[in-house]
Amino acid sequence: MEGVIDALTRDLLTRHAGFDWTVTEFVRVVDTRLPPRVFYKHCPELTQPPVATPSGIPVHLQLLGSDPAALAANARQALSLGAVSIDLNFGCPAKLVNRHDGGASLLRQPERVYQAVKAVHDALEGEIPVTAKIRLGFANRRLAVACAQATEAGGAAQLVVHARTRDEGYRPPAHWEWIGKIRRQVSIPVVANGDIWTLEDYWKARTLSGCSDVMLGRSALADPWLAPRIRHWLQTGERLPESSWAMRANVLKEYAALQRQQLPDRVVVSLVKQWLAQMRQGSGEAEQNFQRVKRLTELDQLLDSLIVDEQHAAPA
Ligand SMILES: Cc1cc2nc3c(=O)[nH]c(=O)nc-3n(C[C@H](O)[C@H](O)[C@H](O)COP(=O)(O)O)c2cc1C
Repeated sequence: MEGVIDALTRDLLTRHAGFDWTVTEFVRVVDTRLPPRVFYKHCPELTQPPVATPSGIPVHLQLLGSDPAALAANARQALSLGAVSIDLNFGCPAKLVNRHDGGASLLRQPERVYQAVKAVHDALEGEIPVTAKIRLGFANRRLAVACAQATEAGGAAQLVVHARTRDEGYRPPAHWEWIGKIRRQVSIPVVANGDIWTLEDYWKARTLSGCSDVMLGRSALADPWLAPRIRHWLQTGERLPESSWAMRANVLKEYAALQRQQLPDRVVVSLVKQWLAQMRQGSGEAEQNFQRVKRLTELDQLLDSLIVDEQHAAPA
């Protein structure tokens, strides 16, 4: 997720079994072949084959663009640097990106989705897979199935569907039943995405979409134990307890410790606050902590505040 999930976040989120794979922030492709440093910046895992998090969970590299030739050239570049899978982003709703003909803007023309996927598929010559991520459409869902079929026809090996149109942004609800409509019209694996915040959401999304796999976005940050909780429940039928504030705070502290090895403290302060802000979803204690520390500018002071609260929040 652009601006919020980097390699260290991926590392922390995959330390407890739950995720099968992860995706980088998108690499923006315009009309040139980007230099290796851009790929290494988005995907530092490329420097340590087999391009996985330290726990061994594969990292797929995501490209966002609309020019088939440029996407193909950058997919080749990524392949030459060791990428294990290329994902194409047709879901980004950002105005700036869409104005420059990227992300969800292509969903208005399934033929262009097809051309983009096919160009990358052909460029990769079967060495590694190309996958795609779409929303249900741009302004409406009229072309949802056509876009999904375009990804399959272009050679996508898998499709993630974020169950909202571009114009719906991130507003609930996610229309999981629409993922089912799409799934029935393609033969590649379809992964359901959007608004899966709890075990109950997971089950409902699975049931309505008919998908056996889901992708977690914001909820992976809000509750780093959601994926492990889902995995545990699937394997044992047992519900693990909800994640406490202390568990969340510990993740933030580990994250800060890792980030401060490579970034100035003032930047780490912003990053920790950003993640804490995501944790407010579903956690009143995260909200209280966010309100209390949001004006702090000194990293140790910020982390100490979280430690104090951790002691208060920890079970007796
Ligand atoms: C801040 C932010 C950045 C995102 N960046 C990306 C991205 O780089 N690539 C991508 O495929 N999706 C990106 N997404 C979309 C998420 O992957 C996901 O599809 C969306 O948030 C819906 O799932 P969720 O309800 O589980 O968050 C981003 C979402 C947010 C909120």
